[in-house]
Amino acid sequence: MKTPAKKKAVVTNKTADVKHKGPRIIALVCTKGGVGKSTIAFNLAVELSKKADVSVIDLDYQKSLTIFDYNRRELGMEPFKVLTIKGAKELKKVLTATSGTIIIDTHAIDSDLTRLAMIAADVVLTPSTDGYLDLCGLLAFKNVIQDIRKIKKELKAHVIINRLAVRSTGYKDVETFVEDHKDSFKIVKARLTSRQEYRDAFEQGKSVCEMGGKKIAADEFKKLLKEIESL
Ligand SMILES: Nc1ncnc2c1ncn2[C@@H]1O[C@H](COP(=O)(O)OP(=O)(O)O)[C@@H](O)[C@H]1O
Ligand SMILES: [Mg+2]
Repeated sequence: MKTPAKKKAVVTNKTADVKHKGPRIIALVCTKGGVGKSTIAFNLAVELSKKADVSVIDLDYQKSLTIFDYNRRELGMEPFKVLTIKGAKELKKVLTATSGTIIIDTHAIDSDLTRLAMIAADVVLTPSTDGYLDLCGLLAFKNVIQDIRKIKKELKAHVIINRLAVRSTGYKDVETFVEDHKDSFKIVKARLTSRQEYRDAFEQGKSVCEMGGKKIAADEFKKLLKEIESL
């Protein structure tokens, strides 16, 4: 049996001229899964939609943001504008035609969709834990960034340290990694510890900032939000 040929991402400077009318495109991207892209995307979507007109583009195969939006509808909350995209051509069209703030949640694959999202984005956010495998994930993702920098010279991914064990000091490894690869990455100062509230909030269609109880997760996320707004 023949192994199927690996489909190569083919976004070029000819196909990448996306012009967005709105103020901002924020893309959550990392070719490694399970790092918190969707979690940060939906918390951002809830909080930013309190101040701006927000559309969400769900490129995640797992459709986490679509599920989150469904939860909100079911629980009688204001739904999001979740746009479903079938291919790179459609993504380009939608990015050009949609005004307001756009949050793009991507799948953990190097694809034309992911690359277009990175090219169109004003801000690329890349969550990472302090684990060794996540650092390996960042290293693999760096190849994609370097490739796109041939078209978009200024591209850097902003690394958000996420799911940090409450007493961990391991994040220094992430900081050192980012410093060693500063041609591709920048560190985000605000960091998110591992909190049960993220899981509970998802089920309740809320952001962690809207949860009762201890406010640690909420305070951390608000700090992150402020920093993202200033990028
Ligand atoms: N700061 C956090 N604290 C606790 N759990 C988290 C946190 N960030 C993400 N998670 C959990 O980690 C898992 C993977 O997150 P997810 O956002 O789906 O990653 P990705 O979109 O990168 O694949 C989910 O179960 C999510 O609830
Ligand atoms: Mg996801």
